[in-house]
Amino acid sequence: MNSGLDFGTSTTLVASPSGIVPIGESRAWMPSLVGYDEDGNTLVGENAQDLTPEQLIRSIKRFITEGKQFVQLDTPTGLRDVRVDDLIAEMLREVARRAPILTSTNVMMGCPAMWDGTQRRRLVQAASRAGLNTTLASLVDEPVAAGIAWLAANPGTGPVRVLVFDMGGGTLDVAVLDVTGDDHYDVAVLAALGVAEAGNALDEAIAEDLEFGLAAMGIDVAYLPRPRRARARLLYAAQEAKIALSTETEIDAKLPRRDFGIASIPYSRERLNRAFADQMDRAELFVAAALRVAAVPSGSGKSARDIARIPVEDLAADVDVVVLSGGMSQIPYVSERLREIFPAHIRIVQATSAPENAVATGLPKVSAYGRTSKYRPAFDIVLEWDEGRQTRRVYEAYTPLIEPRQILQGSADLHFIRTGRDLSLPDSGKGTLRVISHALPVQASLGGADLDGFRVALSQQGFALSLYPDGRIRLTDGAAEYHGQLAGWS
Ligand SMILES: Nc1ncnc2c1ncn2[C@@H]1O[C@H](COP(=O)(O)OP(=O)(O)OP(=O)(O)O)[C@@H](O)[C@H]1O
Ligand SMILES: [Mg+2]
Repeated sequence: MNSGLDFGTSTTLVASPSGIVPIGESRAWMPSLVGYDEDGNTLVGENAQDLTPEQLIRSIKRFITEGKQFVQLDTPTGLRDVRVDDLIAEMLREVARRAPILTSTNVMMGCPAMWDGTQRRRLVQAASRAGLNTTLASLVDEPVAAGIAWLAANPGTGPVRVLVFDMGGGTLDVAVLDVTGDDHYDVAVLAALGVAEAGNALDEAIAEDLEFGLAAMGIDVAYLPRPRRARARLLYAAQEAKIALSTETEIDAKLPRRDFGIASIPYSRERLNRAFADQMDRAELFVAAALRVAAVPSGSGKSARDIARIPVEDLAADVDVVVLSGGMSQIPYVSERLREIFPAHIRIVQATSAPENAVATGLPKVSAYGRTSKYRPAFDIVLEWDEGRQTRRVYEAYTPLIEPRQILQGSADLHFIRTGRDLSLPDSGKGTLRVISHALPVQASLGGADLDGFRVALSQQGFALSLYPDGRIRLTDGAAEYHGQLAGWS
């Protein structure tokens, strides 16, 4: 059996195939908080809530996204650089304690679509240290898991193209999925893009807005007795206001009178929308970029310039349903803005009735679906020679085959390429290509033979391997040019 673990920037959730397994003290989710108390004990989740800002890390997952190894924390022996991965392992250990299902099942874990192989391996290693049974193959792009949560709840949908918009605390993930088949669905990922701007960023924008509001009332936060603490409180008030304004149109944002001298400040949905507008403008560009990336494989014959010129409305018309996931997608302004891109006949639906549960809900179900990532294939292509003593990674799993900016720049021929010069290959001898899959087995041909085991004439000048988003492969080596195809791609 599979279970699901959604280690989110703000919240962590666990699910079994039949639904969410509550792990929080008062809610289904555990806040993704970790820190040290005065005695040097690690505190996790709700237990860490009351630590001082110096003792606490609020969004530990963000450090993997940013590629940081250490974080500064106040410990009993003073300020210390603590290893991020140790804190994550500590947190996941606590999650496993709260959800025994995780230690008796295969744990499928979500990760942001934008993570590369190195980032994915960090999470898998931390999870293994926490005693969880996970491998790279058990990591699923978060928007794919959310899309599958929706599919599982809507069987018999038939072939559809789904755009998943997953806005959580730390990242916005957008994926375009092609769903084929009738009773057994295959889900192909045509695009999976991510950007580290989501709920936390909006909280900061609202907090800034509240600070302006206070200034207009004659309260200057910089001159309060404890400005740092006041700003931390303001951020908290901002988050509360944001959540309340998903259902109300006007509220009084609560403030601790002790810190501010007043107990609340009025805030409205209209002001929130204004504070959110720039961020949603960027999100909209991002959705457009994902739609363009998704248009590449089927648009064969079209140049990047052609694809860059297709009006967004035309690209949007290829989508059948927009699936919303992540806590932030409960903000009415999110669907209002998406509605401006997607015409009225395209459904905009929530992945699950509580969209913050979607990723976790989908994770234990992914194994029932065929999955291929055509945008960030889950295999390495390695070139080895000298009886395996020399190796080069020609293609690293999860590297995007094309970048959105290549489309915008009108690059002549959209594909991934690695040359003999990039790889510092020698100029003589023979090498062998190896395909190492991190998910389902990969079938690929090259020059009529298998790509795995293909013999290559080594050459610094002559070698180049190209992978195309429609699954075509081209290799030139010191001797000839070969063409091939990844099976099941077109
Ligand atoms: N009802 C609501 N209205 C508006 N925002 C909400 C609501 N509920 C939660 N949020 C916000 O959603 C974000 C958390 O969403 P979610 O739990 O999906 O993120 P996450 O999975 O922890 O983060 P990520 O996926 O980015 O790693 C937070 O910014 C939170 O304040
Ligand atoms: Mg999430």
